[in-house]
Amino acid sequence: MNLGLEGKRAIVTGSSRGIGRCCAHALAREGTRVCVVARTQSELSQVLKEIDEIGGEGFAVAVDLTSQESCQRVVCETIEAFGGVDILVNNVGAAKNTDVLELSAKCIDDALRLKSYSYLRMAQLVIPYMKESQWGRIINIAGGAGTSPSRGNIPTGVANVTILNMTRALSDAVSIDGILVNTICPGLTNTIRARAQQNARAVFENRDVEELLQELELELPAGRMAEPEEIANVVAFLASETCSYMFGSSIYMDGGARRGTP
Ligand SMILES: NC(=O)c1ccc[n+]([C@@H]2O[C@H](COP(=O)([O-])OP(=O)(O)OC[C@H]3O[C@@H](n4cnc5c(N)ncnc54)[C@H](OP(=O)(O)O)[C@@H]3O)[C@@H](O)[C@H]2O)c1
Repeated sequence: MNLGLEGKRAIVTGSSRGIGRCCAHALAREGTRVCVVARTQSELSQVLKEIDEIGGEGFAVAVDLTSQESCQRVVCETIEAFGGVDILVNNVGAAKNTDVLELSAKCIDDALRLKSYSYLRMAQLVIPYMKESQWGRIINIAGGAGTSPSRGNIPTGVANVTILNMTRALSDAVSIDGILVNTICPGLTNTIRARAQQNARAVFENRDVEELLQELELELPAGRMAEPEEIANVVAFLASETCSYMFGSSIYMDGGARRGTP
C-alpha cells in the first residue's frame, strides 16, 4: 500500500526514545521529513543518525515541552527547515504516579502541563499551516489509563482523558479543512520507561520484575504486550493519504485489555 507520505513534513514530540522514536523511524521510512523533539540532545542525535541510515531526513530540537515558548520554538524551526508542517504526532509523556490517597494536586498539574497542554499548544500552533494547505494529520498518543483508571495512576489517567476530550473538540474544529485528528491509546508497550515503571512496582511488591511482566502479559487477551514499532505502524497509517475518512477517533492498542463497548 502506498501511504502517500513521500515528501510530507512531520513533528514527533518525545521522539528520542520508545514509541516516539519508532514513530520517527516509521515516518522517515515512508519518505517523510521529521523534526524530532525531546530534552536530551545526545539521544536525539542518535535518532537522527538512525533516520539517516534509513535514508530519511530530519533535524532535532532539544527543548522541555512544558512551556509555550518551547512549543513555539519547535514549530518555528520546523517551518524554517521544511517550509511547512503536514503531520503532528503528540507523544510526549512522563507522569509521576502515586497512590490516590497520597496524591498531590501538583503531581496532576505536572502531568497535565506536559502531556495535555503541550498537545493542545502544538496542535494550535501547527493548525494554521495545515489550513493553508487544506491537509493535515494530528495523531495524539494517550493511553488506556484515560478510560480505565486505577488508584495508582491518576495523573496519567487525567492527562489521557483530557487528550481524548481534546481530540474530539479539535477534530470538530478542523475536519472541514482536511485536517484529521485522531488518538491512539496504547496499553502496556515494551519501552524502557514501561519496564522501569514495572520494575519500581516489583521492588515495592518485593517480587521479580520478569515474573510480574509475565503475569501482566498473561492477563491480556493478546497474551503479550505491544512492541513500540506496532504502535508506530498505526501512527504512520493515521498520518497517511490513505487514511482519509477517520475523524476524532480513539483507537485502543492494548492487547484487547479494555472492557465495555468502544
Ligand atoms: N509504554 C507504555 O506502556 C505506554 C502505555 C500507554 C501510553 N503510553 C504513552 O506513550 C507515550 C510514549 O511513552 P514511552 O513509553 O515511549 O515513553 P519514553 O520511552 O519515556 O519516552 C518519552 C519521550 O518523551 C521525552 N520527554 C519526556 N519529558 C519531556 C519534556 N518535559 N519535554 C520534552 N520531551 C520530554 C523523552 O525524552 P527526554 O527525557 O530526553 O526529554 C522521551 O523521548 C507517552 O505519552 C506515554 O504516556 C505509553
